[in-house]
Amino acid sequence: MKNFKLKLIPGDGIGVDVVHEGVRILERLAEIDGGVRFEMDELPWSCQYYLKTGKMMPDDGMKILRDCDSILLGAVGFPNVPDHISLRLLLPIRREFEQYVNFRPIKLLEGLDSPLKIKASSDIDFVVIRENSEGEYCGRGKNINENTPEEACIQEAYFTRKATERIIKYAFELARKNNTPHLVSATKSNALNYSMVFWDKIFGEVKAAYPDISSRSIHIDALAGLFILKPQTLKVVVASNLFGDILTDLGSAMLGSIGISPSANLNPEKKFPSMFEPIHGSAPDIAGKGIANPIGTVWAIVLMLKHLGLNEMSENLMHSMSKVIAERKIRTPDIGGKSTTTEVTDAIIAGLAR
Ligand code: NAD
Ligand code: IPM
Ligand code: MN
Repeated sequence: MKNFKLKLIPGDGIGVDVVHEGVRILERLAEIDGGVRFEMDELPWSCQYYLKTGKMMPDDGMKILRDCDSILLGAVGFPNVPDHISLRLLLPIRREFEQYVNFRPIKLLEGLDSPLKIKASSDIDFVVIRENSEGEYCGRGKNINENTPEEACIQEAYFTRKATERIIKYAFELARKNNTPHLVSATKSNALNYSMVFWDKIFGEVKAAYPDISSRSIHIDALAGLFILKPQTLKVVVASNLFGDILTDLGSAMLGSIGISPSANLNPEKKFPSMFEPIHGSAPDIAGKGIANPIGTVWAIVLMLKHLGLNEMSENLMHSMSKVIAERKIRTPDIGGKSTTTEVTDAIIAGLAR
């Protein structure tokens, strides 16, 4: 029996619903396989936990996570705790476990209705590679003259050659591996006169080693327009932490809902566990209603299984999920259906090949 240790962090709001649906899927997949066991340890770390303990995770939280094979996260954050505090869970995990690649596929599956005017589903099929360890998310800055008329603040962005180079290289390698030899780098070097000028310089250096890949740099504002107007020209997009964050909610919305796209926080060297999650948040506006779209999480599990080397299982799940979407019968309200979260998962489980 092959044993995989998974740490689950359902978090807050709909994060709890979608991770619990994920557990049902994983249990069924293991049952079908017969030779795999998922040892799942659910952690209560959330805003509720913070209100009780004053912390988002215990002091030895990172140690608790350290030896698992993967982390599955729902979403953290709720209106009862300020967002910049609740994020003291997610961002430290990404940073300390050197999950420096954030892999976010944006793919219009058959049966999803894009709000865009496009000719074929294949017109939206690309990957955003988001820098996941520094940049605008470095957390540095300070308040100045607080509560005086001269009040001000500084929010720094910290870009290193090491992290910028490795993420751009990763994106080029992916374009090569996928045989999709087109790459776009998101910039804003007209206004961000240090960070993005630096990003572009490194992009220029790395690009020279990939003459087989047609690549260009596009300002983030124009790129947002391109996402909407000509998504078929996109294959691999590489972006800084903040830019990649914004572009991927835009990308998922192009598929009809923010509840669809997955996110893999990868430590490519496998020195630390990687973490898988949907791109969406805790959705307080629909929390507790049982109507959260579980697809983002199911797709994140597809990526997690692949990362764990369980390729057949991953394909089985992807196939069943795609079939449920293509059939257009069972879907949550965000994509035009009337089904509940559980009904969607039930249909996916029922469609798994044995
Ligand atoms: P959100 O993604 O939670 O919600 C944005 C909108 O999309 C809402 O209208 C919501 O109902 C809808 N939506 C999102 N996921 C959905 C799903 N699966 N099915 C159906 N509809 C869905 O973004 P927000 O409102 O900006 O953030 C809410 C909280 O979540 C904040 O505290 C934020 O910091 C946190 N957040 C956490 C993560 C994370 O843990 N990875 C990610 C994003 C936001
Ligand atoms: C995401 C989220 C997070 C991010 C927030 C909650 C800090 O929006 O995973 O996309 O910006 O990375
Ligand atoms: Mn986001």
